Amino acid sequence: MSDVLTISGISKTFFAGTVNERRALRDLSLRLEEGDFVTVIGSNGAGKSTLLNAIAGRMPVDSGDISIDDTRVNRMKEHRRAKYVGRVFQDPMAGTAPDLTIEQNLSLALRRGERRGLGRGVTRARRERFVEELATLELGLESRLKAKVGLLSGGQRQALSLLMAGFTHPRILLLDEHTAALDPQRAELVTNLTGRIVEQGGLTTLMVTHNMQQALALGNRLIMMHEGRIVFSADEKRKKTLTVDALLAEFGKIKGASFDDRAMLG
Ligand SMILES: Nc1ncnc2c1ncn2[C@@H]1O[C@H](COP(=O)(O)OP(=O)(O)OP(=O)(O)O)[C@@H](O)[C@H]1O
Ligand SMILES: [Mg+2]
Repeated sequence: MSDVLTISGISKTFFAGTVNERRALRDLSLRLEEGDFVTVIGSNGAGKSTLLNAIAGRMPVDSGDISIDDTRVNRMKEHRRAKYVGRVFQDPMAGTAPDLTIEQNLSLALRRGERRGLGRGVTRARRERFVEELATLELGLESRLKAKVGLLSGGQRQALSLLMAGFTHPRILLLDEHTAALDPQRAELVTNLTGRIVEQGGLTTLMVTHNMQQALALGNRLIMMHEGRIVFSADEKRKKTLTVDALLAEFGKIKGASFDDRAMLG
């Protein structure tokens, strides 16, 4: 199996040399093979979002290397990396264009995913596909193609963002607490949708979550971060045997760590 993502010894310090210095990533290495789905857990400030931001190119790392397939992307700007990287954030407002309609948003995602030969318009064939795909969400969006996305609820927008991320066939899909802002029912729906979209697209995925049940239910590997490092890592075989209790025990081993049990068990 070839590696899709290779991270070699990356470090990132914010406000270096000042009283506000924050060492967000410390010599972190990680490799993802084609189709790997890694769930990422860890306390607040562990560096999870910084790791995802580093992969997406939101900010440069201080040292170390990041490669997608065989391309070293360290110096590649965020907008160019977007060709390889799909993202869904915690904030439902971040992934979609509120002033465009559902079908316009979907068309944009489709255009990004297919290299050429696609016009700007929403053709009948495309509209049929949108209706079909939206129906699978079971949110009734298939009958609201011309509704502005800004009018949708957070859960509906997250589901749409995921669908759009799937359309673009990214080499890597980055999910950062993308169900955290949703009520339990919607969170479950978006969790199930995540599993389906990743599986259907065979997407190589990194998903950050504070929900340990979700971290166990999805994906084939799991990592735990603390203070900018990976402090625990479970491969496919190990992950199958993991329980929430076992993860809590691992958390317990980390000195000085504090966790909101309620949120994690949610
Ligand atoms: N843009 C930034 N500027 C300055 N400091 C930052 C920035 N982004 C992150 N940090 C700092 O880096 C450290 C890691 O933050 P990060 O957001 O990666 O944590 P996290 O694991 O995603 O936490 P959470 O679970 O709260 O989302 C923290 O100490 C944070 O304050
Ligand atoms: Mg974060």
